[in-house]
Amino acid sequence: MPSIISGERPFEAPSHATCVPTHVGIIMDGNGRWAARRGLPRIEGHRRGLEALRATVRAAIDFGLDYLTVYSFSMENWNRPIEEVADLMGLLKRFIRNDLKALNKSGVKVKVIGGRNDLKPDIRALLAEAEDRTRSNTRLTLIVAFNYGGRQEIVAAARALAEDVAAGRLEPSAIDENMFAQRLDTAGVPDPDLIIRTSGEQRLSNFLMWQAAYSEFVFLPIHWPDFDRQAFETALAEFSARERRFGRVTAQAQKVR
Ligand code: FPP
Repeated sequence: MPSIISGERPFEAPSHATCVPTHVGIIMDGNGRWAARRGLPRIEGHRRGLEALRATVRAAIDFGLDYLTVYSFSMENWNRPIEEVADLMGLLKRFIRNDLKALNKSGVKVKVIGGRNDLKPDIRALLAEAEDRTRSNTRLTLIVAFNYGGRQEIVAAARALAEDVAAGRLEPSAIDENMFAQRLDTAGVPDPDLIIRTSGEQRLSNFLMWQAAYSEFVFLPIHWPDFDRQAFETALAEFSARERRFGRVTAQAQKVR
């Protein structure tokens, strides 16, 4: 499958948005419905979803985002039919194998969040390779949430802190928000400014539960395979028009960035 992440295009800022978020998270929803509407098998929706993901990474680079996090497989997705789970694992492998070279050339740093132990050794090795090879890139950090669950991530962080307390290495009173955040998979990554969800559904579905505390949300009425540069710009323009108060009052708050 040809890669569209070429790294050859010049910088192309979004035409409508006036301020670009640092970190965008995307819940790529609606692949199955996109396929069903066309009388196609669900895997076809996921395949087209992968193409939309490639184009989205390209656009994120052009727009000047620093971080893009994509929800590719949730811990709850293991409950899908075994064939669909296998298809999604296959698409992840295809993405890494086909696109890693181009991602690297484009200056994309790949980071994977979620549980690794449940994944097959060949997938674990591919994910480790993607992270190792792109470690020093700085243009865009692409965070692939795979076998990811926000609640599970929070529980793991709490457990790690509890173990430190039990071992006498940590005083409970020393635990604060910053310390907690450093135990999450996203340690060192700024919280998402904007979370986009396609397909018209309006929920978080266990995505970045901690990190989304002050994110803006944009819900788009299109299925993920139809998400393109224009849809991305629409979401960024809506984000630009929002006032982020972080609990303050309007007079204290600045417009986003
Ligand atoms: C949600 O749509 C989408 C997923 C569970 C998988 C997302 C995967 C991709 C976009 C392509 C593969 C990319 C990688 C990196 C593996 P859905 O299937 O829940 O759609 P539905 O709600 O309409 O059934």
